[in-house]
Amino acid sequence: MKSVDIIPKSRGPQSCHCFFHSSFTLFFPSRYGCQAHARGSHAEVPVPAPAKDEVLLKLEAASLNPVDWKIQKGMLRPLFPRKFPHIPVTDVAGEVVEVGSGVEDFKAGDKVVSVLSHFSGGGLAEFAVAKKNLTVSRPAQVSAAEGAGLPVAGLTAHQALTQVVGINLDGSGPQKSILITAASGGVGHYAVQLAKLGNTHVTATCGARNIDLVKSLGADEVLDYKTPDGEALKSPSGRTFDAVIHCATGIPWSTFEPNLSTNGKVIDITPNASAMLTFALKKLTFSKKQLVPLLLSPKKENLECLVGLVKEGKLKTVIDSKHPLSKAEDAWAKSIDGHATGKIIVGP
Ligand SMILES: NC(=O)c1ccc[n+]([C@@H]2O[C@H](COP(=O)([O-])OP(=O)(O)OC[C@H]3O[C@@H](n4cnc5c(N)ncnc54)[C@H](OP(=O)(O)O)[C@@H]3O)[C@@H](O)[C@H]2O)c1
Repeated sequence: MKSVDIIPKSRGPQSCHCFFHSSFTLFFPSRYGCQAHARGSHAEVPVPAPAKDEVLLKLEAASLNPVDWKIQKGMLRPLFPRKFPHIPVTDVAGEVVEVGSGVEDFKAGDKVVSVLSHFSGGGLAEFAVAKKNLTVSRPAQVSAAEGAGLPVAGLTAHQALTQVVGINLDGSGPQKSILITAASGGVGHYAVQLAKLGNTHVTATCGARNIDLVKSLGADEVLDYKTPDGEALKSPSGRTFDAVIHCATGIPWSTFEPNLSTNGKVIDITPNASAMLTFALKKLTFSKKQLVPLLLSPKKENLECLVGLVKEGKLKTVIDSKHPLSKAEDAWAKSIDGHATGKIIVGP
């Protein structure tokens, strides 16, 4: 397969569109067919043209999230994907090669981190277009891989902790006791670090092999989720939790409930039907203990905050593995497997 490595800048912006570039593309049998049969393969596609409010990026890294393969499996029908075939992945870092007519804050050569829309995707490719309002500058201290890890996972952790739990990342405010499940995963490993920037005591769960890593990220106590105490979410120091950032799946409300403080909240980032029922019941009965389903709403200022924290050395991206774009299917399979430690990265 032929691929284009560099857009010759001397030819001017419009010349980009004459070129094709390589991508990992999901093909669906038919628009209304079974998406579970969607298959991924490599394809040459035209370099996209940036709209007025977009920048065209030559990608240096992309990171995978479970939602990417959930789209492929049809778990988010009928919302996603909107177009067929579909280039998956939203979290990218790269260099600006062209800007739309309405873009003033970026220029060719700028290094950036962007979150692409789940509707359009586009991250598993050599080039992608990103909205200017979801693109932030990436300083030299933040590598492309570290930056690409941040968008969906980091923003979800940031939103849960700052907006729902009300934690101040400057360490001010009353102390809160937080439980973070699946603390070794993409969202969880950022959540541990961000929570510890606030005034918190953090209990975390992960598999035995990741206990030392999660402690090194700042967790005060760590439970192996395969032990009886881990399954019961019992704090080793006997604490109850003011908030749970629930990044694992399959844990019922009845397991959380006895471990919550009087006004404790479970922030569920993968709510299933049973969780939605609990959410409704707790609301209707004015329960002090609540389940809060969370859906990420990406914000540029929050992404800027995360990139800034990485630059200052206060937050790091743990990298599970790096895969070349030509082997994107290996990264895809690893994400589906569900045992990543930190972020899975695809590079050129
Ligand atoms: N609502 C939203 O907007 C939003 C945003 C982002 C993500 N999500 C969802 O949040 C979930 C987590 O995403 P992610 O990116 O963090 O996933 P991930 O990186 O794939 O998580 C993998 C990690 O989870 C650990 N793990 C799995 N089951 C566990 C359990 N029962 N207890 C403790 N650890 C466990 C695994 O450890 P082992 O290898 O040791 O098993 C592995 O290290 C996904 O369902 C995702 O779709 C939702």
